[in-house]
Amino acid sequence: MQHFLPNGQQLVIRRPSVKDAAACLHCFLQLTKETDFLLYTHEEARTFDLPSEEAFIKAYEHNPDNLFLVAEVDGMVVGSVSLNQSRFRKQHHMALLGIAVLHKYWNMGIGRRLLTAAIRWAEEHPKITTIHFDVLATNERAIQLYRNFNFSEHGRMPGGIRQPDGSMVDLVIMSKRIKP
Ligand SMILES: CC(C)(COP(=O)(O)OP(=O)(O)OC[C@H]1O[C@@H](n2cnc3c(N)ncnc32)[C@H](O)[C@@H]1OP(=O)(O)O)[C@@H](O)C(=O)NCCC(=O)NCCS
Repeated sequence: MQHFLPNGQQLVIRRPSVKDAAACLHCFLQLTKETDFLLYTHEEARTFDLPSEEAFIKAYEHNPDNLFLVAEVDGMVVGSVSLNQSRFRKQHHMALLGIAVLHKYWNMGIGRRLLTAAIRWAEEHPKITTIHFDVLATNERAIQLYRNFNFSEHGRMPGGIRQPDGSMVDLVIMSKRIKP
């Protein structure tokens, strides 16, 4: 899917192929360097190498129950969204969301477009009815994005995150029912 950013740059949202592994890995490493709103620390992210990133992309390629999309601006991977159906049969209606955009590209509507694409995919999926995730209570931008899409907040896990500096942060539990 093609879009244009407010500055006129072209944004493409698409499924990556293994050929994109280096670009995806570079984006992931940069993300973990820039933000502490993700579960992965940069040190953990650095344990990924090209073969593991290729395997990660391949695992999505032929899996109709999981989605991985990248946001590409002028040929560079600048963000991604994933939806992973629970592996448990009793929760086959639940899909876990992950989303991230490089800091330089925040506030240009890329998160909104990635989330829109993920929701559309989930709407077409035969079993998934609910998208869910936890978000750091301090992550106001992400929470604003989710509120824009009418995700509901269901409460908090106090101290669900211990940051590398030792500070404790609550996790907000959120979800959206996308079909009956
Ligand atoms: C959360 C994230 C994906 C949003 O991506 P993005 O491309 O900046 O999103 P968009 O530009 O589409 O929308 C951002 C919204 O936040 C709003 N916003 C910007 N700064 C804000 C702030 N300081 N406080 C609250 N809302 C803010 C914007 O106004 C916009 O809402 P609007 O469309 O109603 O104006 C991105 O910030 C990111 O990758 N963060 C780091 C990783 C992360 O937190 N992932 C989510 C983990 S749950």
